[in-house]
Amino acid sequence: MYKKHRKNSEYSKGPHLILIGFMGSGKTSIGRGLSYKLRRAFRDTDRMIEEKEGMSISEIFASKGENAFRQMETEVLREIRDDRIGRIYSLGGGTPVRMENQPLIKKCGTVCYLRITAEEVYERLKGDTTRPLLQCDDPLSRIRDLIAKRGPAYERCADIIVDTGSITRDKVMETVLEKLRELGWDIPVIEKTENENEDTGDQRTEP
Ligand code: S3P
Repeated sequence: MYKKHRKNSEYSKGPHLILIGFMGSGKTSIGRGLSYKLRRAFRDTDRMIEEKEGMSISEIFASKGENAFRQMETEVLREIRDDRIGRIYSLGGGTPVRMENQPLIKKCGTVCYLRITAEEVYERLKGDTTRPLLQCDDPLSRIRDLIAKRGPAYERCADIIVDTGSITRDKVMETVLEKLRELGWDIPVIEKTENENEDTGDQRTEP
């Protein structure tokens, strides 16, 4: 009898929920909210990199360059792949673009792509100074260009796609949870008490 060609372990997914999407798509805000709903710790890879490097993303881009930053993202992804405790991770908007990152992202867990239009991103991020790639004369064209280029990479990595931008944060979270349920995730039922506040009360973040 022939053995199955693929070993399950080679292709099996890790235990995490991975949020991907363009800058401003709400990965951090949705990740925090889901952390409460799923009773899982939340980590943002930009913050992990900033902590490791002891400087902000803007400072890393300015002093070490974008390529060095992209390498740091790949290293963080390897850590996430090797982390066996199920958490929620939000990835920087450019992480799925690097080809070698795509299989790594898929191995980390269930990948949710928060999709947003260029115009919505522009509205959300005008005035923001923390995203080095958007500090230019015509940010809207830059955003359009980047979304057009990155869209296929986001879609390739995704198990779930949820449109965000024009709908409320609660509705986005509800839709993500519904789709996770469809994929067989066991979603805890959380009874809200009067004093519980999703944003500040019971949210679980890493120190
Ligand atoms: C980037 C997105 C940023 C951050 C860096 C580069 C990108 O993360 O990693 O400024 O290339 O799209 P957010 O998507 O969390 O803003």
